Amino acid sequence: MLTILKTSDEESLKEITLEKKIRETDEIFILFALGSQFDHLIKLAFEKLGVFCLVADPRSVTAKDIEKIRPTGIILSGGPASVYDGTIPFDTKIFDLGIPTLGVCLGFQMWAHHIGCEVVAAEKREFGVHNLYVKDKTSLFKGYNDDTLVLESHGDRIELSDKLEILGSTDHAPASAAKYKHLYGVQFHPETSDTENGIKIFENFCFEISGAKDRFPAEDIAERKIKEIREKVGDKKILLALSGGSDSSVVAGLLKKSITGKKQVRGVYIKGIDRPDDEASVLENFSNEEWLEVKIVDAADKFLNVLKGKVTMPEKRIAMREVYKEVLENEVKDFEASFIAQGTLYTDLSESGAGHQGARRAQIKLHHNTNLNFSVPELSPLDDCVKDGARDIGRAVGVPEKLLVRHPFPGPGLVVRIEGEVTKENLPIARQIDAIYIEELRKANLYDTVWQAGAVVTHSTVTCTKGDDASTGFVVALWAVWSVNGFTAQFAELPYDFLKKVSQRITNEVREVGAVVYRISDKPPATIEWG
Ligand code: XMP
Repeated sequence: MLTILKTSDEESLKEITLEKKIRETDEIFILFALGSQFDHLIKLAFEKLGVFCLVADPRSVTAKDIEKIRPTGIILSGGPASVYDGTIPFDTKIFDLGIPTLGVCLGFQMWAHHIGCEVVAAEKREFGVHNLYVKDKTSLFKGYNDDTLVLESHGDRIELSDKLEILGSTDHAPASAAKYKHLYGVQFHPETSDTENGIKIFENFCFEISGAKDRFPAEDIAERKIKEIREKVGDKKILLALSGGSDSSVVAGLLKKSITGKKQVRGVYIKGIDRPDDEASVLENFSNEEWLEVKIVDAADKFLNVLKGKVTMPEKRIAMREVYKEVLENEVKDFEASFIAQGTLYTDLSESGAGHQGARRAQIKLHHNTNLNFSVPELSPLDDCVKDGARDIGRAVGVPEKLLVRHPFPGPGLVVRIEGEVTKENLPIARQIDAIYIEELRKANLYDTVWQAGAVVTHSTVTCTKGDDASTGFVVALWAVWSVNGFTAQFAELPYDFLKKVSQRITNEVREVGAVVYRISDKPPATIEWG
């Protein structure tokens, strides 16, 4: 199946015809992925609506290609570029074809710029959840109330113009949603879960504006993935990177259903920079399985060795990847595995700078599990999923709920929860504060109400007084977020008396800590982890 449209050559057109036939439709939507962190969420939204949506590469697909394909509608995602720096590779003649088009963020700015509107760097940038005042409830906002919440993440804004019919505005973006003839645009991100009922905007675009009629029934994704793995691996051996977090547990669940033989899979748990309760969770959930052997590899010294002298988060991330890869490669040899399986999600690829190809994609952070060029082929069955989708697959293959709702395992472990150099002195502090924080979250029945929580050893110190002695102690930063898929997140409003209790325990029980603070920033602009 064609995964990305590069041109309208005969082969691609044949593939499109075949896919239309399977879906019993003549309708197709083309999504130009311009490098947004969220572009895959647009594709997932269209899949949820049962609409055939094909991702297109803006660098090579031209207006001529689009004329040949005759899509029902076109969507342009957001992206990190600016229209006024003149570097976006996109054939703007596509805007003149008269095909209903929806631009999201940068995509909106692109068509607005094309028709002569002014796009400027906004004095007040907008990040996070804002109120949208809906001005027109007939097209994109059919079925909406007067006010609705939307997720903004933009530094540029479109100035008001006579050409634009304004559909909605926010406090800092008067043209937050607008139309011009067949061109529609929203400055915010309907594809994220933080935008209230954002999928309705896509639904309105498809069925009210573009005139689509057909919906393809939802497919059984887990079943498709099992079939794909089965066909690929046969009876060959697989090494599974098993962190005990939900993603690698879901991959384990898929492998269990895909393989034919006993002991065809070895799960490797890498110990050293892990959270205090991860190893026990892996042993509890996976060590008594017939189809899987679990091996714990202690790489603590190796990690500390490569992390020596590394101070910034990016350099620490790069260094820990070396050890991660080396351990897995050793185990591939030892187990004589033909494949390495990982729980990589689309989020990991996208934040690492990969994912759908676009004008330019920013590298937010290099995830530990991406682009490692292993000596054997990789199985990453979840790399087109985001967290909530991966959990649904897990449910379908019988992964226990307690594993699915476990807070995600951060690949680089506590490395991203320690500021500055990671040493054998501060690693145990990070472990102790995590243990206290998570234990208290569980005791207060708050663990399952937050998506993820972490405790960070910062390199700030404060003067403190413990007993009658004056001394200095580290500042510990706690964070916890509410999220759906990790692409966006809001800081969790944990009760003060809970935070007070955790702070008292940490400052009392951990000698080196002088103060505790709580992070109250959302993603965007922050990310979920500290580093
Ligand atoms: P951020 O911090 O990017 O995190 O907002 C999103 C989610 O990803 C986890 N995370 C990682 N997971 N390898 C992973 O497998 C990594 O390198 C990595 N970095 C962050 C993070 O814990 C959060 O759940």
